Amino acid sequence: KKVAVGVDIGGTNTTIGLIDEVGKVIAKGGIKTPAHGDIEKYMDDLAEAIREMTALTSEVLSVQGIGVGAPNGNYYSGTIDYAPNLSFKGIIPFVALLKKRFPEFDHIALTNDANAATIGEMIYGGAKGMKNFVMYTLGTGVGSGIVVNGDLVYGHDGFAGECGHTTLIPNGRPCGCGALGHLEAYCSAPGMKRTAFELMAKYNAVDSKLADKSFLELDSKMIYDAAVAGDKVALEVFELTGKYLGQGLADTVHHLSPEAIFLFGGPTAAGDLIFKPTQQSMEEHLLPIFKDKIKILPSELDSGNAAIIGASALVYKEMEK
Ligand code: BGC
Ligand code: NA
Repeated sequence: KKVAVGVDIGGTNTTIGLIDEVGKVIAKGGIKTPAHGDIEKYMDDLAEAIREMTALTSEVLSVQGIGVGAPNGNYYSGTIDYAPNLSFKGIIPFVALLKKRFPEFDHIALTNDANAATIGEMIYGGAKGMKNFVMYTLGTGVGSGIVVNGDLVYGHDGFAGECGHTTLIPNGRPCGCGALGHLEAYCSAPGMKRTAFELMAKYNAVDSKLADKSFLELDSKMIYDAAVAGDKVALEVFELTGKYLGQGLADTVHHLSPEAIFLFGGPTAAGDLIFKPTQQSMEEHLLPIFKDKIKILPSELDSGNAAIIGASALVYKEMEK
């Protein structure tokens, strides 16, 4: 049986999986993504973890290659360039570093993490059969993948689809990338936290369920639980996040005329709390030609597996070439 290794590099964790040709996860593991970037050491740890996983199964499974999704990962160059939410600085020749450790594999490919999740959605998820759609991934950063006429769009240099870095608010909050007012600074998990803290200050909301949390402690699950329990601040965090996100989605619709936009990642578990204000805000910003036509849908992939599955699909795609 053929399998491929899928790797998803996140800000804190790197997830590794063995995935078969129909997108089934056969084995799963992971390592920490280091907070301080020693790239060679990280590559060694990653290679070891991959070897452990593949060694276990080599009797029955034949490993075809390694596919990787990473923030600011570039499919064309195989490099990770200036990722704002990773500790590795500059340009990392990721595919070359991995090939050095796995010379036996013909297929080693890298793409942007959100692109990997988008490929997963397209092949195995809710976007099956859709020719034009966009997926936004909400997490430590906000990423996106764009599919036009059935193909993932890479653009001239391979970086297409950085929708998280579109400007929402002129001179607004600083984004992790250094620019001001980007969507990511508002709709990422840290952005939602920041909104919560701003609202608590604004209302002097000492009675909020979030009031006793430090910035480091607070996470989007806590904001969600508080909102479900009727906490005013938490409810307004979702309202505002949806408002901002809808504004960004409207721009995406104006640019691309997609059939649907998928939302993916932690905050989407909040369901209507996030989807309703997002849809409403998007409609407010849309031209009449688009109104009430664009679906905003939750990803149908298990959020823990989407990117590794999509990354593994890169390997199968390479094999077809
Ligand atoms: C990066 C993207 C990435 C997203 C999610 C953004 O800050 O620029 O490349 O897809 O975060 O990790
Ligand atoms: Na992307």
